[in-house]
Amino acid sequence: MTEEAGADRPRPGEGGVFGRRTGRKLHSTQSVLMRELLPRLAIGPNDDLTRDALFPSAAELRLEIGFGGGEHLAHHAGHRPTAGFIGCEPFRNGVAKFLELADAKALTNVGIWNGDAGLLIDRLPTGSLAGVDLFYPDPWPKRRQRKRRFVSDDILHRLARVMAQGTMLRFATDIDDYAGWTLARVRRSPHFAWEPTTADDWRQPWPDWPSTRYEAKALREGRPPVYLSIVRNGQSAD
Ligand SMILES: C[S@@+](CC[C@H](N)C(=O)[O-])C[C@H]1O[C@@H](n2cnc3c(N)ncnc32)[C@H](O)[C@@H]1O
Repeated sequence: MTEEAGADRPRPGEGGVFGRRTGRKLHSTQSVLMRELLPRLAIGPNDDLTRDALFPSAAELRLEIGFGGGEHLAHHAGHRPTAGFIGCEPFRNGVAKFLELADAKALTNVGIWNGDAGLLIDRLPTGSLAGVDLFYPDPWPKRRQRKRRFVSDDILHRLARVMAQGTMLRFATDIDDYAGWTLARVRRSPHFAWEPTTADDWRQPWPDWPSTRYEAKALREGRPPVYLSIVRNGQSAD
């Protein structure tokens, strides 16, 4: 398929996933975890996604989009046992890696959606999320590929509906152009604002930030990351 041919496929957020869904063969521990642990954590297509149904004792519900190997998800879920976390990741090997971490930490406050995050977002109740993390979404750096990016005016609108007022969308990228792309869409959104508190806060990761393999590679290759704290405020998005 040519890159342009991708334009006919559903976009990320509309059920489409342009990246890989599977990779190398899982090793035996991962296969066991996929068979035995994933069914306990997986979110199904018809599940009730209210906080009460997912995590009855959780004080809040948070979402991570594209968790990769799950380093952040496992870290934050382990450090915030009173919160419930939903992690979205279409890549099966990423899910398997996360399950190893979840198993080692005996996490019970995480639900996994093994698919396009957009399909899950639209099923969440309005104003139900206390925070959303989108760290290093697939960059699609070539001009003709940019339509594949997860961030769009449309996805911001859909995220705005499910995020409570005053909560934060944390966005990280090592691709300058993706930072600019996202800021342009945030600036024209009536639902979000980016208001840095210091001149260089976009260069600093958030407190309690575990680095990932992806981030380490970006740093090694001379692409310093950009960290944007984007606040949900303004108009209702119903
Ligand atoms: C570059 S990786 C970054 C992974 C991780 N967030 C990190 O910081 O290491 C981007 C991830 O987004 C996932 N992804 C791609 N399209 C997605 C979609 N539509 N919904 C959810 N995740 C998606 C990919 O499978 C991949 O694991």
